[in-house]
Amino acid sequence: MGSHVFRPLWVAIAVIILIFVVRYFMVPSDFGIQERGFTYGFHRKSDESEWAGIKAKYKGRDYCKSCHAEKYRSIMNSKHRIIQCENCHGPALNHPVNPPKLVIDRKRALCLRCHTYLPYPGSQRSRIEGIDPAKHNPGISCVECHNPHKPDLELAK
Ligand code: HEC
Ligand code: HEC
Ligand code: HEC
Ligand code: HEC
Repeated sequence: MGSHVFRPLWVAIAVIILIFVVRYFMVPSDFGIQERGFTYGFHRKSDESEWAGIKAKYKGRDYCKSCHAEKYRSIMNSKHRIIQCENCHGPALNHPVNPPKLVIDRKRALCLRCHTYLPYPGSQRSRIEGIDPAKHNPGISCVECHNPHKPDLELAK
């Protein structure tokens, strides 16, 4: 056979060898098909322990219940019952050890991200009572008048 046949063949072989060499250096040694079979096991094994080692930032409101029982009871009997405490106070992390206190944000922007009137037909967002921030008591913090843990207007009367 002439060299016009062999030359492309050598190139193809060189490319294949190059792929194996690169793969040897790039693919982690624990990557592959693990004991759970191809569907679930085809991954890097140490990835599991890396995810398990990540500390949860958010605790959920049941965690707050034991120490801030009054706030918990109040909000659970109000229209804000569907909102997690940490939605307004930020992630608990290791509170009350670290941080000893969580954020208290009294800015209008905290409330306006949900209560600015948005006319999205068919969206759940438009079912939240909305106000026009430019007309509804501008410049005054919302919590001067509304209790965030008991916002219901009929209860306030
Ligand atoms: C083990 C008890 C405990 C748990 C659980 C706990 N806290 Fe606290 N929290 C405290 C203590 C103690 C303080 C400090 C109180 C102080 O200095 O007035 C505090 C302070 C705060 C403050 C600031 C109060 C202020 O006046 O500055 C906020 C807000 C708060 N916690 C929210 C939460 C939320 C939300 C959760 C649940 C994700 C939570 N806490 C869970 C004990 C707890
Ligand atoms: C809609 C937002 C929002 C949610 C949800 C919310 N808070 Fe608050 N929280 C606030 C704001 C704003 C203040 C400051 C109120 C003020 O100064 O009148 C506050 C104040 C506090 C304080 C300290 C001041 C005080 O009145 O003693 C604690 C403690 C607290 N919240 C705990 C909680 C816990 C626990 C939950 C969940 C059960 C929760 N909050 C849910 C917005 C919220
Ligand atoms: C994460 C979204 C969210 C945030 C943030 C939020 N709210 Fe609400 N708010 C709601 C939802 C949802 C309702 C209940 C709507 C319903 O069921 O009718 C509600 C209800 C209310 C109501 C009751 C209106 C009525 O007709 O009884 C008032 C007042 C209110 N919120 C004030 C506030 C204030 C003040 C803040 C800031 C401290 C705040 N909200 C932050 C979602 C939010
Ligand atoms: C000076 C006091 C005051 C301040 C500040 C204030 N509000 Fe109100 N808000 C009221 C009163 C009173 C009502 C009930 C009468 C009305 O609808 O105007 C009300 C009604 C509402 C309603 C119900 C509207 C409806 O159509 O059912 C929402 C939601 C609300 N406020 C959110 C907020 C938010 C968010 C802020 C801050 C950006 C805020 N308010 C600031 C006094 C206040």
